[in-house]
Amino acid sequence: MSDSPLLFSPELISPTVLAALPEGYTCRPLTRTDYANGFLDVLRVLTQVGDISEAQWDERYSWIEKRADSYFILAIVDEKKRVVGTGALVAERKFIHNLGMVGHIEDIAVAKDQQGKKLGLRIIQALNFVAEKVGCYKTILDCSEANEGFYVKCGFKRAGLEMAHYY
Ligand code: ACO
Repeated sequence: MSDSPLLFSPELISPTVLAALPEGYTCRPLTRTDYANGFLDVLRVLTQVGDISEAQWDERYSWIEKRADSYFILAIVDEKKRVVGTGALVAERKFIHNLGMVGHIEDIAVAKDQQGKKLGLRIIQALNFVAEKVGCYKTILDCSEANEGFYVKCGFKRAGLEMAHYY
């Protein structure tokens, strides 16, 4: 595992996913030290991240850590302990559906040289496991047309329409 405290309980990591990963790889909750393990570089395959200093990382990490019952960010790491994949589940508490909870899957990324090894699939399976364990009645996500086939293979189906208003 990792030497520094994990963002959430490792009991929320699916044993089935752990068993299915390539040899030497593991899946674990994010840790503060992942700043030095290439976490932000993995996110750069998804979108622009910016030039984030370690102090800025620490501040955001602390904010998320205080909300660790709602922010579940996980990392896939290789045998050299480099982060090679990540994904997040944000658990939203609602009034509707009897105080239901919806899981939002966000920021799925697999390092370019690691794509095609089913790591993306394992990340989604791991996030689904967390969602079910913490009591979400569904998980939803937004993606581009180009990624629809990936999410269909992960068991999702097209529902609704995404809209955005940028500031
Ligand atoms: N379209 C159709 N099928 C796909 C795609 C795609 N874009 N990507 C993968 N697949 C298929 C694979 O061929 C595989 O199929 P198989 O079971 O028949 O062999 C299956 O989906 C699982 O593929 P993985 O090997 O798990 O995919 P990978 O590890 O490469 O991860 C991912 C896929 C996450 C989309 C990766 O390519 C990536 O990081 N892309 C850049 C960042 C990105 O676009 N992230 C998603 C943003 S949406 C969001 O965050 C909610």
